[in-house]
Amino acid sequence: MNEELLKVIVSKRQIQGDGVVVLDLTRPDGGPLPVFEAGAHVDIHVAPGLIRQYSLCGDPSNAAVYRLGVLKDPASRGGSTGVHEVLLEGTEVTISTPRNHFPLASQVTRSILIGGGIGITPMIAMAYALQADGQDFELHYCARSRCSTAFLDELQNADYASRVSVHFDDEAVAQKLDLNAVLGTPKAGVHIYTCGPAGFMDWVIATALKSGYADAQIHREYFQVKVDVSGESFEVVAARSGKTVQVAAGQTILEALAGVGIKIEISCEQGVCGTCVCDVIEGEPDHRDVYLTDDEKADNDQILVCCSRAKSQKLVLDI
Ligand code: FES
Repeated sequence: MNEELLKVIVSKRQIQGDGVVVLDLTRPDGGPLPVFEAGAHVDIHVAPGLIRQYSLCGDPSNAAVYRLGVLKDPASRGGSTGVHEVLLEGTEVTISTPRNHFPLASQVTRSILIGGGIGITPMIAMAYALQADGQDFELHYCARSRCSTAFLDELQNADYASRVSVHFDDEAVAQKLDLNAVLGTPKAGVHIYTCGPAGFMDWVIATALKSGYADAQIHREYFQVKVDVSGESFEVVAARSGKTVQVAAGQTILEALAGVGIKIEISCEQGVCGTCVCDVIEGEPDHRDVYLTDDEKADNDQILVCCSRAKSQKLVLDI
């Protein structure tokens, strides 16, 4: 995946809530940055070989700043810890230009944005964009407790503050998210967007589907998942080089390919970012990622080799 890289500096850094660092990134000369759409993310080159994706959570109409919010994850494999420790004010950092795997849909009559914890970040950019566009929307932010929650001041002071509801786990039952009531009766043109911990998103998605929403009306962005690479061994043929490799039980395709000298570009290694996507020429993938949509998975013509496996004995990949 080729992408354009940018050098930016951390022009402002703030700790908000319980361990969320909010960073403003600007060009060293103060000039405008490439335009981004709500829902977009950038790759942050945290350290050599350590690239992580973070959603842009600022106002997309502000071309001067990219804003990110990064939660320090106790189980961090280096990404969020590195961001917290290395990206101090004035630090120069390399980022990708914005990419959007979580765009707002077109021809929508109403949008329901539901963010859990740090999953609020893309929703904030969406709220700015929907407000600027004069669209009907509501934003629900579920968090553990008032004192641990980032972005509260910004949301309470935004032009769209009247559309925001915050729900705390440790406060009165009456203020908690009544998901069935918020989703209401499905109508064409109503779209739901969710981002947050996997269990939270699974609850939102399952409730929406059960209420009668079509899968295409439910938009989701996972930021962390547990990768399950269990399963039988199978064969992978790299069509361009003609190399064949056996993927052992418990091994990823990525690891098996590396063993025969075939390198695939990777980033998250969790089936989240899409960096390692390869085209499938033959065979049936066993999709374990959360990046491809259900329709894309059903097409069986792409696979994320950092986590997915095969249902067939053999997969032929266009690599
Ligand atoms: S490296 Fe991110 S999906 Fe495979």
